[in-house]
Amino acid sequence: MNLKDRCPIINFKDLGDERGKLVVVEGNETIPFDIKRIFYIYDSDSTIIRGQHANRESEFVLINVAGKSKVRITDGKEEFIVELNKPMMGVYIPRMVWKDMYDFSKDSVLLVLANTHYDGSEYIRDFDEYIKELNKK
Ligand code: TYD
Repeated sequence: MNLKDRCPIINFKDLGDERGKLVVVEGNETIPFDIKRIFYIYDSDSTIIRGQHANRESEFVLINVAGKSKVRITDGKEEFIVELNKPMMGVYIPRMVWKDMYDFSKDSVLLVLANTHYDGSEYIRDFDEYIKELNKK
């Protein structure tokens, strides 16, 4: 399967009405895993690059609940960029896929859902090491 198909954009339903918007994200429903962890990144800006890692165990869904940012997604062979710019969309990132988050707007709040509790040892933060591990399989 190509990388884009492995990292689908998820469009959440808009349950808004005249009172405002409402978006629901549910584990094992719109999110393709059981959600164990939530974190959010804000107060970054257009000079910052975050992420720069792949995960041996974690899967993620990234949602800009406010503002916007970009995610560069690669497996060392293919690469594509997603602009997260509305609270109604997310991107799924499976295990062993490299991602960089950058170009954060001042008001960006990047919400991340994960299928794991945090374990720093499952992060691969060196791109050459990542490619090596991928090629081992
Ligand atoms: P880091 O992985 O560098 O963030 P990003 O993916 O945005 O580049 O994490 C920053 C710090 O926060 C690092 O010291 C690890 C810690 N951290 C946790 O303790 N738990 C978590 O769930 C996450 C994502 C990070």
